[in-house]
Amino acid sequence: MKILVVGSGGREHALCWAIRRSPLCRELFCAPGNAGITEFATLVPIGVEEIDALVAFALGQAIDFVVIGPEVPLVLGLADRLEAAGIKAFGPSAAAAALEGSKGFMKDILAKYHIPTAAYGRFTDAEAAKAFIRSKGAPIVVKTDGLAAGKGVVVATSLDEALAAVDAMMGDKLFGAAGDELVVEEFLTGEEASFFAIVDGATALPLAAAQDHKRVGDGDTGPNTGGMGAYSPAPVVTPEIVAKVMERCILPTVRGMAAEGKPYRGILFAGLMIDAGEPKLLEYNVRFGDPECQVLMARLRSDIVELMLAASQGRLAGHTVEWSEDPALVVVMAAQGYPGRYRKGTVIEGLGEAGRVEGVRILHAGTERNADGRIVATGGRVLGITAVGATVAEAQSRAYRAIDLIRWPEGFCRRDIGWRAIERSGVSQ
Ligand code: AMP
Ligand code: GLY
Repeated sequence: MKILVVGSGGREHALCWAIRRSPLCRELFCAPGNAGITEFATLVPIGVEEIDALVAFALGQAIDFVVIGPEVPLVLGLADRLEAAGIKAFGPSAAAAALEGSKGFMKDILAKYHIPTAAYGRFTDAEAAKAFIRSKGAPIVVKTDGLAAGKGVVVATSLDEALAAVDAMMGDKLFGAAGDELVVEEFLTGEEASFFAIVDGATALPLAAAQDHKRVGDGDTGPNTGGMGAYSPAPVVTPEIVAKVMERCILPTVRGMAAEGKPYRGILFAGLMIDAGEPKLLEYNVRFGDPECQVLMARLRSDIVELMLAASQGRLAGHTVEWSEDPALVVVMAAQGYPGRYRKGTVIEGLGEAGRVEGVRILHAGTERNADGRIVATGGRVLGITAVGATVAEAQSRAYRAIDLIRWPEGFCRRDIGWRAIERSGVSQ
């Protein structure tokens, strides 16, 4: 098959790596991709939001199957447009992608189908949102309804902070139209985990779980980011938790979306808060996580193309998904200044040697090759140093050994990725 992957991050590098392992893949393209992805795919210079150009390319090249990585093209209807053009695609329709595209829609589905989640209110009026906040008190969580690149969430510890978030999102339009409507919800406590299922409209199979580190600094401090590292499996997601999440969250959602006339196909990523063995749903995403995908693809033993095709064709029932028992861990290297302002175009060296450390694979997120053929940083999150090992501690030490061989003075990473899992297993470095 001729396959096109849409996206340019570490998630898409990991997907291309897994897709290349499938005997079903004859030729692989990636739009727009990055410098690392060239090891597996031919890059196509079309951005993820250029829906018309992506459909035209897929038609022109007689692409058999399109795998859509990020949420934005899904919310814009790329899967619908490809299907209308007679091209198979992996990822939900725009109507189903509203589970991520509109937090209000998602919360209403959860409420209607009795799925455990934080209590909430939806608001299009700032004064009404503020009155609700005053009646509930702090801590409280304020979220933009629409997509805000992971930044439209304020976990407010005081009333003033929550009220200021309403003004920033609705008054100052900090996130544009995404903030025309807000969701205000109860603050939940517990341990977070990322749970993934693959869904074909009716059947859902659990994939592996992971945990990511969202804060920029060691010890989980500082501002939130897209994710500074991750590991899988997630010790907090025991087999009992998997059973509860499938029964109480994933399956009712899949049945509910079908009943709404918006059958869900693709990856359903449940952000969980687990407290005393009881999972609650923080949010749904309609795609793999980044960097969680990197560790999942490092552990996946099954043929991902067969699984994705089966999901897109409604024939997942009877499939099983095999994983390596060995844990995987990814450490993200970012440009200094991220998640704030950072420089682009700085040169990265030593990747060849780093990539030869046992168990390590270097997955690129924001890189390009410059005119002299050198790898330069083009984004905030730039590399994902991914390692497997017999234990999380071994995977961690391999990843950091590789990082210490990378020469990139303008970059940084956290030095403690996986600490919670390592502490839990009682294995010290
Ligand atoms: P979201 O984009 O909805 O996943 O939110 C980003 C982060 O905000 C989550 O990973 C949590 O750490 C935090 N968060 C979101 N909703 C809540 C909540 N209701 N209670 C506590 N923390 C939350
Ligand atoms: N790492 C979290 C996400 O991809 O949304």
